[in-house]
Amino acid sequence: LQMEDYGRFLALLASTLLVGFLSVILSLVWVFHYREGLSWDGSLGEFNWHPVLIITGFVFIQGIAIIVYRLPWTWKCSKLLMKFIHAGLNTIAMILAIVSMVAVFEFHNAKNIPNMYSLHSWIGLAAVIFYSLQLFLGFAVFLLPFAPVHLRVALMPIHVYSGLTIFATVIATALMGITEKLIFALKTPAYSASPPEATLVNCLGLLLVIFGSLILWMASRPHWKRPPAENAKILRPIGATPEGTEVESTMTNSSNADKSDLRGNTEAARKQNIKFDEAGQRSTIRKFNLL
Ligand code: HEM
Ligand code: HEM
Repeated sequence: LQMEDYGRFLALLASTLLVGFLSVILSLVWVFHYREGLSWDGSLGEFNWHPVLIITGFVFIQGIAIIVYRLPWTWKCSKLLMKFIHAGLNTIAMILAIVSMVAVFEFHNAKNIPNMYSLHSWIGLAAVIFYSLQLFLGFAVFLLPFAPVHLRVALMPIHVYSGLTIFATVIATALMGITEKLIFALKTPAYSASPPEATLVNCLGLLLVIFGSLILWMASRPHWKRPPAENAKILRPIGATPEGTEVESTMTNSSNADKSDLRGNTEAARKQNIKFDEAGQRSTIRKFNLL
């Protein structure tokens, strides 16, 4: 990573953290200054845990979990440690999301409001279900030592794609929820009269979009990816990824965003490919677009 590029990464990371913290603070200001605060008694105070925990956990902590491999100063840490941090942050996000859903379901039941009628609740529940699947598969395939290397190689591009897609869906769900809540809650004056609460919470929605965009940008730059383990890069053919380096097959290999970066690899790999008689090896390389 060049010095100039390092600086750019740091600036982007600082902006992302700032926007993320600001979102969490705005959600607290909304809930405490304009709404009923926080409580756990079936009242609106219990509902209010829903946005606060979603924005803290499912948006902010998940966002950080997604880019944690890309922090350049962690590249000297072991991959296993980084997997624990990535998996741990995602687990915390999952727990907070579940508590936030319990809050809104309990609130609805206490107030005899129907459950699961809105598009917001359908997309939201779907996101939580896919997220728990992603978490479970991540543990089973990439953390536990049982999955064979070819499975890791095959699943990594899917893991990255589904992770980013779920994250984007979570942002969209949050925007829907915010809109619903403002329309429900603002009566006198109405949402359409643009009271200060509406303006503040519209800004919160804007910040969530900016936060999501920054995370997706950082997570999709090929040159900010955690570099492959040295020995793996030099000694192994691309198709035969050794244990613990399935990670070499994320964005860089599966996207053509940075062709110049891949060209050298492709030449070398093609030459090596000739040496491999095993058809399996070749089909793995072709099937998962690893060149
Ligand atoms: C309701 C999920 C974010 C506001 C619900 C329900 C689910 C859900 C499953 C249905 C509860 C029930 O039927 O009893 C999610 C998820 C979110 C999210 C996964 C993650 C992005 C938000 C945010 C707000 C919000 C940020 C902002 C205040 C609401 C409101 C309801 C609700 C007002 C009640 C009306 C309805 O059922 O649509 N949410 N939510 N949600 N949520 Fe969210
Ligand atoms: C990479 C999402 C759970 C292992 C990624 C990436 C995303 C992601 C978006 C791409 C990051 C990048 O390109 O820099 C998620 C989500 C999860 C989850 C949303 C939970 C719901 C897990 C778990 C493990 C895991 C439990 C097990 C340790 C990995 C590995 C990488 C990765 C090894 C590759 C890192 C690299 O490219 O160097 N994950 N993940 N993930 N994830 Fe997950």
